[in-house]
Amino acid sequence: MNRRKFIRLAGGGTIAAATAGTLAACGAVGSHYPAEAVEAWNGPVGENDARRRAVAYAITAPNPHNLQPWLVDLREQDVITLRTDPERVLPHTDPLGRQILIGHGAFLELLVMALAQQGVASDVLLWPQGELPTALKDWDNRPVARITLQPGGQPDPLFAQVLQRHTPKTDFDTTRPVAPALLAQLLNSAQAHTPLRVGGTVNADQLPALRTLCGESARVELLTPRTMMESIHLTRVGPAEILQHRDGISINSPFVRAVSALGLFDRSAPPAEGSAAYNNAMGRFEGHSRTAMGFVWITGPNTRTDQIHTGRLYVRQQLQATALGVGMHPMSQAVQEFAEMAPHFERVHQLVLGRRAPRSSEEATVQMFCRMGYPQGEVPATPRRPLARFVRT
Ligand SMILES: Cc1cc2nc3c(=O)[nH]c(=O)nc-3n(C[C@H](O)[C@H](O)[C@H](O)COP(=O)(O)O)c2cc1C
Repeated sequence: MNRRKFIRLAGGGTIAAATAGTLAACGAVGSHYPAEAVEAWNGPVGENDARRRAVAYAITAPNPHNLQPWLVDLREQDVITLRTDPERVLPHTDPLGRQILIGHGAFLELLVMALAQQGVASDVLLWPQGELPTALKDWDNRPVARITLQPGGQPDPLFAQVLQRHTPKTDFDTTRPVAPALLAQLLNSAQAHTPLRVGGTVNADQLPALRTLCGESARVELLTPRTMMESIHLTRVGPAEILQHRDGISINSPFVRAVSALGLFDRSAPPAEGSAAYNNAMGRFEGHSRTAMGFVWITGPNTRTDQIHTGRLYVRQQLQATALGVGMHPMSQAVQEFAEMAPHFERVHQLVLGRRAPRSSEEATVQMFCRMGYPQGEVPATPRRPLARFVRT
């Protein structure tokens, strides 16, 4: 039997590809990530220091494009100083650094939870040397937070979910609606840091417009060359690249690995609309949008402190979703602050808040916008870099 598969190219042509031999040349066959790349999800191994153990949990925090932009300084006794890694920011899709700082909030929340689990309380001081400036290009080395360890610390029931939490970047099961009572449970469980607010919907009348917004805003990100290239530069295909970087957008599906191994995955230029690569990426976004069975969001003012608090709240909400067995997946395109996205930025504020998009950091901003639903299979853990890469001792 002829076992060849065919890859459809832009323009309608096909080539024979992805034979067993090609796949074998890619390394391991199958979509699982290499075990070493996801070892963080085993929790701290052989770490005795309470701070290092806490950091080992905190690096599993959700964060945009899985850049893992955290640096911790442990040189001062009983103190953890958290800074941003200046190499790990997203100037095109996150020009104000808002999403990167939400990722810092998520890290901080897990850090505090993991310390509390060990009987250590945290005194968190945000911005000990003042807030980071508005423009990413002006960011310097000032700390995001200084955490002073103290005796005490009450274990948090959500800690049990930390190593179980995975973002489902997959289509959801459209035969399983999300019950209004479950949404209510999820929203009620979130203790919002005032003035932040949580909201959401599973209402059939509201879903179509929100799904359309997801699809259309994703299209803008894909068709804007500099934002598309930002993702392409962070894409890791196949076991060797995934192991080398252990960050970014990891793709290990046999099809994409085969395309890449054949030299057909051009990473030097954004894919043209209608090309195989574009259709593949857009197809994923369309699947995610179409199968959104509900939406949840976090809104509020938009100071640097609000961004950190959003991250703390977001990760708690995702841990709660994990406990409830439902998937929560951010679709952030519409809330991104680059010029080409402005119409969708306006629309997401109209749909979620019923008001215009903010013109200042005091006005209500949609900070997180996530689809909800039930994943159709096991959600894989996403890679993390080794602990040592985050720690200055
Ligand atoms: C502020 C923020 C924005 C995010 N936006 C997106 C997004 O637009 N699309 C997406 O697939 N994941 C998004 N994510 C989820 C990350 O991709 C995910 O956390 C990261 O890949 C690590 O995977 P994990 O959460 O399973 O550990 C976002 C996460 C954060 C904190």
